[in-house]
Amino acid sequence: MVSQTFPILRIAVLLTVLNSSANAGTSNSLLDISTDGKLLACSNRDSGTVTIVNLATHTKQFETSVGEKPEGVSFVGDSHQLAVAVYGDDVIRVVDADTGKVTATVTVFDEPYGLVSNRDGSRLFATLDYPGQVIEIDTATHNVVRSHDTGRFLRGLAIPEQEDRVYVTEFYTSNVKAIDVASGTIVDEWQGSSTDNLSRQLTLNPRRPKAYLPHLRSRVTANHGSGSIFPYVSIVDTVDGDGKRRTRIPIDTVFSTQITSNAWEIAVSPDGKHLYVVFAGTNDMFACNVIDDDYREISLQKRVTLGANPRAVRVSPDSQTVYAYNALDFTVFALDSTSLENKATITVTQNPLPEDILVGKKLFYTALQPMAGRRWISCSSCHPDGEPDGRTWHNPEGLRNTQSLAGMAATHPIHWSADRDEVQDFEHTIRGPLMQGKGLIRGKVQPSLGKPNAGLSTELDALAAYANSHKVARSPFAKTGLSEFAEAGKRIFFSEQTKCATCHAGPLFTDSQPAAADQIVRHDVGTGREDESETMGTKYDTPTLLGIYRTAPYLHDGTALTLMDVVTKNPGDAHGATSHLSDVARSALVDFLKSLPYE
Ligand code: HEC
Ligand code: HEC
Repeated sequence: MVSQTFPILRIAVLLTVLNSSANAGTSNSLLDISTDGKLLACSNRDSGTVTIVNLATHTKQFETSVGEKPEGVSFVGDSHQLAVAVYGDDVIRVVDADTGKVTATVTVFDEPYGLVSNRDGSRLFATLDYPGQVIEIDTATHNVVRSHDTGRFLRGLAIPEQEDRVYVTEFYTSNVKAIDVASGTIVDEWQGSSTDNLSRQLTLNPRRPKAYLPHLRSRVTANHGSGSIFPYVSIVDTVDGDGKRRTRIPIDTVFSTQITSNAWEIAVSPDGKHLYVVFAGTNDMFACNVIDDDYREISLQKRVTLGANPRAVRVSPDSQTVYAYNALDFTVFALDSTSLENKATITVTQNPLPEDILVGKKLFYTALQPMAGRRWISCSSCHPDGEPDGRTWHNPEGLRNTQSLAGMAATHPIHWSADRDEVQDFEHTIRGPLMQGKGLIRGKVQPSLGKPNAGLSTELDALAAYANSHKVARSPFAKTGLSEFAEAGKRIFFSEQTKCATCHAGPLFTDSQPAAADQIVRHDVGTGREDESETMGTKYDTPTLLGIYRTAPYLHDGTALTLMDVVTKNPGDAHGATSHLSDVARSALVDFLKSLPYE
């Protein structure tokens, strides 16, 4: 394994790797355990809280409100100070886990997700999902001391023993990058395949130079439930020795066929010999042995049943217990690492969601019946937490870019071609070739634009209530309102010449509204004419423009990679008039679009 180049350095690296012991927070997770093994912390996304659990008694010690959508948590060094990335509020809070009190708040640009601490606790590193930055925080002053633009939609984050670099993953590509801490430059990169997707976490092996990342594969050319979505674990060789750099394991078939879905997080035991991967779609976990052969990499110890929507897993510093977080049961399981029996179920928060939304959310996340026939796919495989999957699918209707569900409740009818008028019409998706589920309605299903499917199944109505519950976040480019340049863009947007606001009208920037099937408003803006796979005609539903700063690529077929593309590639001024605009005017218009919503 030790290569010929810089042998001394590499041996030194290996020795430090071998000497390492368990440390809190060296890889991002929604769960963390303090280095002394006394406290466990988890973030509760739906409750807006973090919970501190006393591990001696397996009882909840504190639950502290931290803000909207907390994600990564990390104890700071060896201390009982807990840092939490509050995704929805753009802050990182520090909570004293011995008192349950918030002791500091660090404001960041947008969407903090992954969080890790260095060993002595002097620094915290965080990934910002949007716009794709790694930031470094001085824990003494609580200032952001460095920030680096190092990709798009960064989520996974891990810090190795040497602390000279951090590893990050890109959510929509699953690319792994090594970032030099001092300079912020990308010093190494391991690209995923073009189908790799939704990579939100990575974990380092303390014993071997390996990083593991769970993700899925989105095969956009296959529009059926047996071939479109698959769970994967990729393994990256962090020391580049023999040219074997990145291995991709189809985790559903590698140990003979055991279908699972939506691999969410991985934990490695402190001795580096065991690996645990949780599946948020099939509610289970693979407990694996790490094999030291570089080829098979892992073998299966046991498949373990967990609760609803497991999103996180961690191993105690003494390796005795594996903790798994069941996000939609609001519990943590404490599993014996040898028998893998559950020793204790700890309730970490009370369900904060209205009862129907919880039912709907569970349906949205599950790959089991009655939602899916083959256990590979759930609604959330393409709409994770209501966000898009960044993909354009080759659907029977034509090319279709996955939409964000944020704000969707107010912008019915839905789909790019406005061919559905209620979320209950997704009963057709559930029963169709994509999901092959039994479905939620008993008896006859109404056609999509026909009589309502609402009211025919409580569960289907709950699924619709959940899908309609996603809110649009304020644009980070307009935290203090519109900039002067964006104001200039606003005047262009609302001008007689461009006509943008004739279709992108009103507070939601769309003229789409619920109407009888034959009165639904659609427009041909010149965007569908070149796509031979289009079967629904070239008139589309006007999309809302709220939140589009983060939803590239654009248009129904995903062909506009940037907002500048939308306003530039507009032959014959078919999509508003933009040909008369100067480059500066177009930039101003784009700045305005990026600022939505600004109030
Ligand atoms: C394979 C990926 C995939 C899966 C699985 C999937 N969707 Fe979608 N979803 C898409 C794509 C692509 C679009 C855009 C389709 C179109 O406009 O014709 C979309 C559009 C939508 C929209 C319309 C949003 C809007 O603003 O108009 C809703 C609502 C939706 N999906 C809900 C669901 C639900 C509920 C499920 C599970 C039953 C589901 N989706 C499963 C990919 C997926
Ligand atoms: C005639 C109605 C109409 C006018 C005028 C119009 N739009 Fe659109 N807009 C649409 C439709 C319909 C789509 C969807 C087209 C598609 O997906 O192929 C769209 C899509 C967009 C998108 C992509 C949104 C996304 O989520 O992918 C942006 C951005 C946009 N328009 C901005 C503008 C701007 C800026 C102007 C003025 C220069 C403008 N539009 C004028 C109807 C219109």
